[in-house]
Amino acid sequence: MLDKLQNILAEAEKTAGLITDAQELEKLKLAILGRKGTLTEILRGLSVLPIEERKKAGERANAVREQLESLIDSRLSELKRKALAEKLLKEKIDITLPGLPLPNGHFHPIRQTLDEMTGIFESLGFKTAEGPEIETDWYNFEALNIPRDHPARDSQDTFYLQDDDRLLRTHTSPVQARVMEKTQPPVRIIAPGRVFRNEATDATHSAIFHQVEGLYVDKNVTFADLKGTLTLFVHRYFSPEIGIRFRPSHFQFTEPSAEVDIQCIICGGKGCRVCKNTGWLEMLGCGMVHPNVFRSVKYDPKLYTGFAFGIGVERFAMLKYGIDDMRLFYENNLQFLRQF
Ligand code: DAH
Repeated sequence: MLDKLQNILAEAEKTAGLITDAQELEKLKLAILGRKGTLTEILRGLSVLPIEERKKAGERANAVREQLESLIDSRLSELKRKALAEKLLKEKIDITLPGLPLPNGHFHPIRQTLDEMTGIFESLGFKTAEGPEIETDWYNFEALNIPRDHPARDSQDTFYLQDDDRLLRTHTSPVQARVMEKTQPPVRIIAPGRVFRNEATDATHSAIFHQVEGLYVDKNVTFADLKGTLTLFVHRYFSPEIGIRFRPSHFQFTEPSAEVDIQCIICGGKGCRVCKNTGWLEMLGCGMVHPNVFRSVKYDPKLYTGFAFGIGVERFAMLKYGIDDMRLFYENNLQFLRQF
């Protein structure tokens, strides 16, 4: 009996080592430990033995069963590990395949226009400055020679915050005062950014739009410098052939003040719907910095002069690209945006 047990164990060890297939191993397990298995038969035959012998053989048979079970189980997991390793080896990623194409994005036309404008001014030595979109009454109005009770405030419908002192900036001009307060002349900056007005939206108006502010302060800056700079800018942005004129105007923070018109690029100056038959298009405001602005930033107006200007970004972009409705910039319509 004990010999038989020993044989079963030895036989099983030998066969299990040769088997390379998990299913075959399961079959072997069944053949030994299953209901009709060789070991099971032996265990069944124990009942006929005398008590002493039965005890001894029973212990041995149980020990052999445990050994067989762990033998087969460990061989089974070894086979599984091997199979997995082989599978992983076969499934190596082929890095020579081209990747999936990713769609290419690009900048919004307003961003492109801002970059183009700052590029032109930077080539002339202007540095880019920034200011906050939430401004104080002082920087947006007071420092720019627009006192609290002045009717000029009416022209800029303002979004005020809870307190009367803070507001959404109505123009980029407050950056002028912020920069001058911190730096001594010469100052040569542009300030591109977003501005806000409490206005109804239509084809040519938006409550949120963009400006590029410019400021140049030094000794002996003249109106000729202003004309030269803005003429060069307009010629670079549109074309060197385009006609340009400076028309007297009024701004609180400049004296004298002017508005710059360009020859209508839709009709070439003959007169059309876009230029309201005048042949000219209003493009931007400018002028020589008012002495009161210098005083509010503690510059000596007798020592320094300067010019300033404010460009409406949307208007420039619309004329360059022939866009007849400003709202297109803000609607996130991909069919429109993909054209730029
Ligand atoms: N801040 C003015 C506006 O929003 C535009 C402007 C006009 C800016 C003349 C200037 C300037 O710097 O000199 O209407």
